[in-house]
Amino acid sequence: MNERTSEGLVALLQDRGYVVVDDEHCAEVILLNTCSVRAQAEAKAIGKANLVCQRQSQRKLIGVLGCMAQRLGKALYQKSPSTRLIVGPNCIEKVPAYLDQLIAHPRERILDIQMRPMDRKLAAAHDENKFQPSAFVSIMQGCNMRCTYCVVPETRGPEQYRPIKDILQEIQRLSAHGTKEVTLLGQIVNHYGIGQMPFRDEKSPFVQLLEEIQGIAGIHRIHFMSPHPAEFRKDLIDAYSRLSKLCPHVHLPLQSGSDSILKAMKRSYNSAQFLSIVQALRQRVPTISISTDIIVGFPGETEEDFQMTCAMFDDIKFDMAFVFKYSMRPGTVAEQLGDQISQEIKDERNQILLEKVKQYSQAYNETMVGQVKEILVEHCAKRGQGQFEGRTPEHKKVIFAAEEALIGQLVQVKIERCATSTLFGKIVEISSHRQA
Ligand code: 5AD
Ligand code: SF4
Repeated sequence: MNERTSEGLVALLQDRGYVVVDDEHCAEVILLNTCSVRAQAEAKAIGKANLVCQRQSQRKLIGVLGCMAQRLGKALYQKSPSTRLIVGPNCIEKVPAYLDQLIAHPRERILDIQMRPMDRKLAAAHDENKFQPSAFVSIMQGCNMRCTYCVVPETRGPEQYRPIKDILQEIQRLSAHGTKEVTLLGQIVNHYGIGQMPFRDEKSPFVQLLEEIQGIAGIHRIHFMSPHPAEFRKDLIDAYSRLSKLCPHVHLPLQSGSDSILKAMKRSYNSAQFLSIVQALRQRVPTISISTDIIVGFPGETEEDFQMTCAMFDDIKFDMAFVFKYSMRPGTVAEQLGDQISQEIKDERNQILLEKVKQYSQAYNETMVGQVKEILVEHCAKRGQGQFEGRTPEHKKVIFAAEEALIGQLVQVKIERCATSTLFGKIVEISSHRQA
C-alpha cells in the first residue's frame, strides 16, 4: 500500500516540477513513507530519519509521511528533531504544496494528520514516464475491522472506496501504456463497496469490479491483496472458474490456526471455515498457489494453540507465508493483555514456521520444474548480465536469459530448476501477441 501511495505522490511531485533522484545523497528533500504495523518498522523509520539528519543536517528537508506520522504526530518532532514535515496517510496529496511552502519559508514546520476523504487524483496518479509491466492499483483505503492486535483502523481510518469508474479508467490508462498485469490493493479488498454499492445477481461489488477488469483489452492478469477470509464467499470463489484473467494465486491471511486465538484476535472466522475456503478454491483451481500471514506469540498463545497453527500449515501447505512475531501496538485492544509471550518463544515459533514455509514452497516449486509457464517479463535480474526476472501466473519469481526489448512481454519459459523462492528456466517462445 505504501509503495503504491509513494508512486502516486512521485507523479504529483513531478507534475509540480520536482525531480526524483536515484541517490539519496543527492536529494534536497527526503520523504519517508512509514508503517506502524509493528514496533520494529517504526524504529527503523525513526533510525533512518535521524541518520539522514545527522549526515546532512542543514541542507536536507526531511518529511515523515504515513501511518507512523499519523500515530505519533507532534511527538515525532522530539524523536526526530530535524523533521520539518509530518503528514498522515490521509493527507498525502497535500505534500507537494507543503513542500513549496517549506522551501519558501525555511524556518517553518508543517504537521497535518487530519482524516480527510480520499483524494481521487492521488489514488489514480502513476508516473507516466515509467513503464510498468505490472502495476498496483489501490481500490480502497482504511479498514472497518477491529482485529485486536492491529493499529491500521486507527491510523488509516474507516473504509473509503474509490468509484468503480475511476478504477477502470486508471487500468485502461495503464493498459494503453503497456501494463499487462494489475494487483488490486486494499486492507480488505473483498469489502470493496459493501454497504454503498449494490449486489447484482448475488455478486458483491468486488466481484463485479473483477468482471469489469476482465473485460479490459490488454490486461492479461489480475491479482488482489489482501482479502479477508470472513468475506471470502461463493461469488468470489466461483470467479476463479469464470474469469480467465484472475490469476491462480491468493494471499489469504490466516493469522492463527487456533480458534480461541482467532477469537481473541477478533478475526470472525474459525479454522474450519478457513479450510473450507481453501478446499473450495482448490476444487476450482487444483494448482492454485496459496500464501498467508501468520502472527506468532499473540498474548495467551499456548504451545497447544501454536501446534494448531502448525497443523493448519501442514494441512494446507501454504507455498508462501509472511510470519510475524507479535508486536504490541499502543491503543489497540490487545495492548491491555500485555506482551505475554517471551521473545525467545516468539523466535522459536517463528523459526519453526519459517522452516515449514521453506519446505512447502520448495515442494510447490518442484512441481513446476519441467513445465512451460507463461511469464510476464518485468525487469533485469539483480544477478547479472542478460538475466531477467518475471513471474508465473501463480506469482512465482522466475529468472531466465532474455533481452531488454522483451520487458513487458509475455513469454513461454521452460522451468529447468528451482530454489525455495525462485525458479530458473529458459525462454521457449514469445507469446506477446496473444489477445487479452
Ligand atoms: N504484530 C505483528 N504482526 C502484525 N500484523 C498486523 N498487526 C500486527 C502486530 N501488532 C501483521 C498481520 C497482517 C500483516 C499485514 O501484519 O499478519 O496481516
Ligand atoms: Fe488490521 Fe484486521 Fe483491518 Fe487487516 S483486517 S488492516 S489486520 S484491522
